[in-house]
Amino acid sequence: MELYLDTANVAEVERLARVYPLAGVTTNPSIIAAGKMPIWDVLPRLRNAIGPDGTLFAQVLSRDVEGMVSEARRFNNAFPGIVVKIPVTTEGLSAIKRLKKEDIVTLGTAVYSAAQGLLAALAGAKYVAPYVNRVDAQGGDGIRMVQELQTLLKLHAPQSKVLAASFKTPRQALDCLLAGCEAITLPLDVAQQILNTPAVESAIEKFEQDWKTAFGNLNL
Ligand code: E4P
Repeated sequence: MELYLDTANVAEVERLARVYPLAGVTTNPSIIAAGKMPIWDVLPRLRNAIGPDGTLFAQVLSRDVEGMVSEARRFNNAFPGIVVKIPVTTEGLSAIKRLKKEDIVTLGTAVYSAAQGLLAALAGAKYVAPYVNRVDAQGGDGIRMVQELQTLLKLHAPQSKVLAASFKTPRQALDCLLAGCEAITLPLDVAQQILNTPAVESAIEKFEQDWKTAFGNLNL
């Protein structure tokens, strides 16, 4: 499977790349804006932080086909191999089809339904990113959407894969992996929650206390 971090925090990517089996980093305009660093300054740093085998994702800002295609070309020229995120709108689907012909790799983003995601895959997107938590927050069922999308791609667009996105809890991410998703992107807080649970720390403290009580030190 492919595990990505959904962040533009270069220092955290460098730190977590030493711990997690990272496949790369995903960004969107809000994530770049939160870091306050101009996109053409932060993308090279992220590119460097994930190493030569890591995959970088960046999203277009334009809403029209010509603008999306032009921004995608600019990303691709600057960072060969980058995956360009395109919102799955009417214009976005057209841009995905155009970019496929140019061999520019795309991800269909802002996916709120399985049918919308299938269209992105059929247009030629390599990845499709369903927004799990945002669907849940609207009163929908994000995991069910992912399950349906996963099944649809397997049946009708096996060249594309689900890159599940938009998480607030590790449980949501785990449910996507159990549904068979091959790729997932986690915000920093969710990635850290997986390891930084109080129960783990207290279990380790108990091991130390028991050892100290028996042997009076912490040496093996
Ligand atoms: C991925 O494509 C999205 O940009 C991202 O995961 C959205 O996450 P959010 O709903 O936490 O903003």
